[in-house]
Amino acid sequence: MSAIERSLDGKRILLIIGGGIAAYKSLDLIRRLRERGASVRPVLTAAGKQFVTALSVASLAGASVHEDLFSLTEEADMGHIELSRAADLIVVAPATADLLARAANGLANDLASTLLLATDKKVLMAPAMNLRMWLHPATCRNVMQLQSDGVLFAGPADGEMACGEFGPGRMVEPIDIIEAIESAIGSDTAILLPGAPLAGRKIVITSGPTHEPIDPVRYIANRSSGRQGHAIAKAAMRAGAKVVLISGPVSISDPAGVETIHVETAQEMLEAVRAHLPADIYVGAAAVADWRVENAGEQKIKKSPSGGPLLQFSENPDILAHVAKAGKSRPALVVGFAAETQNVIAYAQDKLGRKKCDLIVANDVSAEMGVMGGTQNSVHLVSALGVESWDRLDKEEVARRLVTVFADLLEKGGR
Ligand SMILES: Cc1cc2nc3c(=O)[nH]c(=O)nc-3n(C[C@H](O)[C@H](O)[C@H](O)COP(=O)(O)O)c2cc1C
Repeated sequence: MSAIERSLDGKRILLIIGGGIAAYKSLDLIRRLRERGASVRPVLTAAGKQFVTALSVASLAGASVHEDLFSLTEEADMGHIELSRAADLIVVAPATADLLARAANGLANDLASTLLLATDKKVLMAPAMNLRMWLHPATCRNVMQLQSDGVLFAGPADGEMACGEFGPGRMVEPIDIIEAIESAIGSDTAILLPGAPLAGRKIVITSGPTHEPIDPVRYIANRSSGRQGHAIAKAAMRAGAKVVLISGPVSISDPAGVETIHVETAQEMLEAVRAHLPADIYVGAAAVADWRVENAGEQKIKKSPSGGPLLQFSENPDILAHVAKAGKSRPALVVGFAAETQNVIAYAQDKLGRKKCDLIVANDVSAEMGVMGGTQNSVHLVSALGVESWDRLDKEEVARRLVTVFADLLEKGGR
C-alpha cells in the first residue's frame, strides 16, 4: 500500500458531530483527516454525545472536545467566535435534520448552531437521516435555503438505513467527505506523482451509473457509486494529465481540479464523450445502462386497475465500442470496465476482442463482494498480454496503480 498523500496539510477543520447513528463514522473521518495532515477541533452536540463519547473523539482528534456554549473557561475569550475564526472549513457530519433546520433559520441556541451562525468560513454538511426526514418538504426547504446561503453538501447517499429502510438519507462514507473537503479547501491539485507520468496527456473518463427515464419522475438505474471512476480521474490528474470526467448521477463530489461534466442518460454520456475526443486515453468506468425505456411516459404514469405498465426496451449505444472504433479520433489507449457477477475473466476476454479495446479492468460485482457502492475493489487486468489479478484494494489505490499501467502502455505505444 502506498502512503496516504498529505492533501490537507496544515488545514484546520472544525468538525461538528450531530446526534445521529452515523456519528460513529465521524471517528473514522477524524482519523482520515489527520492522516492527510489536517488538524481537527471537534464539537459534539448534546445529542451527538448520545452516540459517540467525547473521550473517543478527543483521543482520535488529539484535541479537546467542545460541547458547551456556556463554558466559563472558554467564553472568557469568546470561545465560540474564536473556534469558528480559527478554521479553514467547518464540517458538519453527521448533519441531522434538526441541525439543518437550525442553521437554515439562523438559530443559535447551542454551541454548534452558534458557531454556524457566527462564522464567515465555508461550511460543508454531510446529512444523515431517515429517508422520510430527508424527503420531508421542511428538510427540502432547509437544504435549499442552506445551498443558497453558500453551504456545501456531501451526499446524502441512497442505501440501507439503520432503521431497516432503503432510500436517500444515508451519510456518505468518510472517504467521500474527505473528497468533498479536498474539493472545498484542499491543495490537491498541487500534488503530482513523482515524474508526472501522464504529463501532457489528455484522458477522458466516464464514471457512475446512467439513469434511464420511465417517466418524468421515475428511472431505471444501477448501484454504481462512481467511486472507482472518480478515483481514476483524481489519480490521473495527479499524474499530470488533463482530465475530463463525464459522470452519471452520483452522490460523491466532483474531484477537485478535474473538469467534470454531469450527464444522466447513456445517450447524453455518449454525446459528452464524443464532444471531448480526441484524447490520448479513454477509460469507460461508468456502469452504462444496456437498455433504455422505448415507451417512457411523457407524464407520470398512473396506477391502473389493468395492472402495471408494460415497458419496452431498446438497446443503448455502446459507448466503449464507439470510442474504440472511432477511426482517426480513436485514443491511443482505450480501457473498458467489465462488471460481472459470474465468469468474470472469460466475459472480460470476450469483451476485449468484441469491443476492440486495449485493456479491460474486470471486477466481480456480485452482492457478496460489496464492490458496487463499496470503497474497495478487486480487479483483473485483461489484455492481449494476458490476465493480471490484483489483491482487494481501496479504490484509490486501484486508481493509482491503474494510472501507472496506463502510462506504461502508452509508452509502449498503446495497442
Ligand atoms: C436512536 C436515534 C437515532 C437518531 N438518528 C438520527 C439521524 O440519523 N438523523 C437525524 O437527523 N436525527 C436523528 N435522531 C434525532 C436527533 O438525535 C434529534 O433530532 C436531535 O435533536 C438532534 O440534535 P443535534 O442536531 O443537536 O445533534 C435520532 C434520534 C435517536 C433517538
